[in-house]
Amino acid sequence: MQHFLQISDLSRQQVEALIERALFFKQTGQFPSYQNRAVANLFYENSTRTRVSFELAAKNMQISVINLDLQTSSEQKGEVIEDTIKTIAAMGISSVVIRHKQDGLPQLLAERCLNDSLHIINAGDGQHAHPSQAMLDMMTIVASKPKLDQLKIAVVGDVRHSRVVHSLQALCALMGIGELVMVAPELWQPDVISFGRVTTSLKEGLEDADVVMCLRVQRERLLETEQLDLEHYRAHYAITPKTLSYARSDALLMHPGPMNRGVEIDSEVADGAQSVILKQVQHGVFMRMAILELFC
Ligand code: CP
Repeated sequence: MQHFLQISDLSRQQVEALIERALFFKQTGQFPSYQNRAVANLFYENSTRTRVSFELAAKNMQISVINLDLQTSSEQKGEVIEDTIKTIAAMGISSVVIRHKQDGLPQLLAERCLNDSLHIINAGDGQHAHPSQAMLDMMTIVASKPKLDQLKIAVVGDVRHSRVVHSLQALCALMGIGELVMVAPELWQPDVISFGRVTTSLKEGLEDADVVMCLRVQRERLLETEQLDLEHYRAHYAITPKTLSYARSDALLMHPGPMNRGVEIDSEVADGAQSVILKQVQHGVFMRMAILELFC
């Protein structure tokens, strides 16, 4: 594998190997050392979890990390992103972690910056894909509920604009998840689904669910025609103690973050006994170590 761009590029064996490796890092605390390697983080969109965990993952393996400050980089003088990447590759940086608002840009850059020793890692592109998030989410699910073919996963919220859900659908199909149901108001339902089904009913969608994944209301991505009254949304789709009780009593509550407390999720459940939201964050470091190691 030369790049880490989208889940559909992976085989089931590769996914299982990455999860096994990430769980090994978590369980043993034994980390390999790749002192002669360097990775650059290029985040053109805001991020806390993904940027910090890729940085920490690299540092855990003694990989040098360059966080390019895009406000002071030569892109402010007109350099195009392709030349930025070729420039840092010429300095010996072999992996570039990129987040960008443009769907498909990591793939485009991988095609344009042809160089056998350069690896592009997609840290989230527009509404298209967020493959490392899907991988850490699957790691979190596998760690608690390994019988994947018997699981019902319910995803709730702004499915239409969610790159997390696009990657999750591909990963659930690949891993043979029993059932994936996406719960969303009609305005926030996707035009195309690759796996699972969609419903507007929170109660029906959550019934017997083993995993409930709550999505952020992505206000920055909503078009004028896609705006919903947030009080109406809360009344019908928020994850609260009452609505979480529609799912199985041992269901995992997940959220990729960042959360809008009091909008799509209530603090009682976000901080409650069923929440694995901070475990997702913890797993993100180990999963990103496993992903970076692919290119060391
Ligand atoms: N889940 C996620 O991508 O979070 P950040 O935007 O904080 O990286």
